[in-house]
Amino acid sequence: MELPFAEPYKIKMIETIRMSTREERQAWIEQAGFNLFNLKSDQVFIDLLTDSGTGAMSDRQWAEIMTGDESYAGSASYYKLKSAIKEIFGFDHFLPTHQGRAAENVLFSVLVKEGDVVPGNSHFDTTKGHIEFRKAHAIDCTIDEAFDTEIDHPFKGNVDLGKLEKVFKTYPKEKISFVIVTLTCNSSGGQPVSLENLKQVSAMAKKYGALLLYDSARFAENAYFIKKREAGQQNRSIREIVADMYALADGMTMSSKKDGIVNIGGFIALKDEELLQKASVFNIMFEGFITYGGMAGRDMAALAQGLNEVCEYDYLNARIGQVAYLGQLLTSYGIPVQKPYGGHAIFIDANRVLSHLPKEHFRAQTLAVELYIEGGVRGVEIGAIMADRDPDTRENRYPALELVRLAIPRRVYTNNHMEYVAAAMANVFNRRASITSGMEIEREAPILRHFTVQMKRSVPVALMAQ
Ligand code: F0G
Repeated sequence: MELPFAEPYKIKMIETIRMSTREERQAWIEQAGFNLFNLKSDQVFIDLLTDSGTGAMSDRQWAEIMTGDESYAGSASYYKLKSAIKEIFGFDHFLPTHQGRAAENVLFSVLVKEGDVVPGNSHFDTTKGHIEFRKAHAIDCTIDEAFDTEIDHPFKGNVDLGKLEKVFKTYPKEKISFVIVTLTCNSSGGQPVSLENLKQVSAMAKKYGALLLYDSARFAENAYFIKKREAGQQNRSIREIVADMYALADGMTMSSKKDGIVNIGGFIALKDEELLQKASVFNIMFEGFITYGGMAGRDMAALAQGLNEVCEYDYLNARIGQVAYLGQLLTSYGIPVQKPYGGHAIFIDANRVLSHLPKEHFRAQTLAVELYIEGGVRGVEIGAIMADRDPDTRENRYPALELVRLAIPRRVYTNNHMEYVAAAMANVFNRRASITSGMEIEREAPILRHFTVQMKRSVPVALMAQ
């Protein structure tokens, strides 16, 4: 018989988690304004809010924590990280930042001006936030297949070259800050971008004289999918594929909280020294001196080790295998999920589960709240609440997809936890017809509202119809 995958590690330390009652959860979510971000972590049994900063470090990473160098300038840990970045991505220049959005803030302070456009594949919300904050526009050039959860396309994160070329032909060169490709594409479901697509995007960016940047939070997961799905890549190592991907780009922003397998951190890496010099000014102002940028020395050292571990094939096979296991269980219960399964998360199609609720009642948010009440499982809405209002018209934006994301932290939960999550979701799915009221916003912030929004239950649909 063919041997199944098994985690290439064993557990050395555990953390207790506690189950609650349905009544407790009902009260807690109401107190939280139906915003899952407002729950206390001990009110959650299985926390799939995010895979960001929630991973478990290895013994070798903890060893790096003990030997980190906390010098203000020129820390040995900084140089350790610099060499890891050079070895893995090939970039000579880098700036540490305290997390991914800080890298965006620093680099976009140099590159994005009012009235600019930034084409890419479904920009992550902080990326879009940092673009719109500067009164520029993010233009989504993702392939159309990404927006149909039932189409089984191997690279749903791909950029549509026709859409991208249209941007180049519509806007003058000086209005295009850069092209940004998100690897894997979180907003369209943790979906990868093929190496072939990266080559084509890179060639087009060169042709029109634009910089190409990668939002690299899940770069290794992207490389794993290339190895598994792209013709001619099967016998190549993850590191070789990563090297090829990054040889095509001018730079990267990184949230180290994902594929760095650390709890906090980020960085910018660049080919061009002059751009680094410009970004350094903002790094010093917003983050810290250029050899620590908001990170402790020990955290930079643990990150250097994490970047090496994340490129190991056996690790990626178990990690992405576990995500797929949850996807297969949900599918076996008839629950509509994004296909193919994403690298870091499973995305449930709330438009299909709660099609009887009007979209103005925030279907994905409603489903995420019900899953929490059912089993103490915390997912997150990726839908109209997260999409914010249009910066010009201030109207709600209703994206094509209303998703509940169940993001799996790295090396944290077992497959028994996945079985529990799938059973809780199946219970919600089976009682979906009885969910007659969605959500209504009571209070919201002008940008990135999903983190702090306060909601109440909307008037039930049956009552509305009368
Ligand atoms: N880019 C992508 C693709 C992301 O997924 C994130 C964060 C960021 C940038 C920003 O990085 O959090 O370190 O500031 N994503 C988290 C998530 C929050 O839950 O998907 P950060």
